[in-house]
Amino acid sequence: MRRAVCPGSFDPVTNGHLDIVGRASHLFDEVIVGVLINNSKTGLFTIEERIEMLRQATAVYGNVRVESFHGLLVDFCRAQGAAVVIKGLRAVSDFDYELQMAQMNIGLSGVETLFMPTNPTYSFLSSSLVKDVVKWGGDASPYVPDFVRERLVTRLRQN
Ligand code: PNS
Repeated sequence: MRRAVCPGSFDPVTNGHLDIVGRASHLFDEVIVGVLINNSKTGLFTIEERIEMLRQATAVYGNVRVESFHGLLVDFCRAQGAAVVIKGLRAVSDFDYELQMAQMNIGLSGVETLFMPTNPTYSFLSSSLVKDVVKWGGDASPYVPDFVRERLVTRLRQN
């Protein structure tokens, strides 16, 4: 079975992430979305909340699974039986760091990274920007699923 991992922080999932996951799901037998547990960084949503939102948002795809991981991405890939990591590239500015990680990962383990160009509609989009938009009263409806936007509003505008 050809499996690929789509890793990230997903705090929270955006339509840009979903575009990459959906396209990857057409190319591989199974796609595993890997949510990084990063103990040195406090997110807006807990890992459980991020997973729950990702599961709801990817439920339309029969071959997408959502799991969390900590430590090295390559160890997670090995544990999942995945030989490929899929990364979305929004712009040239993403490329430098992504290339470094891809080269480190292939050196560590032989896990390949495939870069997928982001849909231009989402080339400026990031979870951080969406959080800022919602925090200051902007409309994030083009950028995240509706149920994610509602959770953002509840979390960020409760005071
Ligand atoms: O959504 P993000 O925060 O840009 O995702 C970054 C992520 C999770 C892909 C990256 O930080 C990662 O792979 N972390 C796992 C730790 C690891 O394997 N580090 C070495 C990579 S060369």
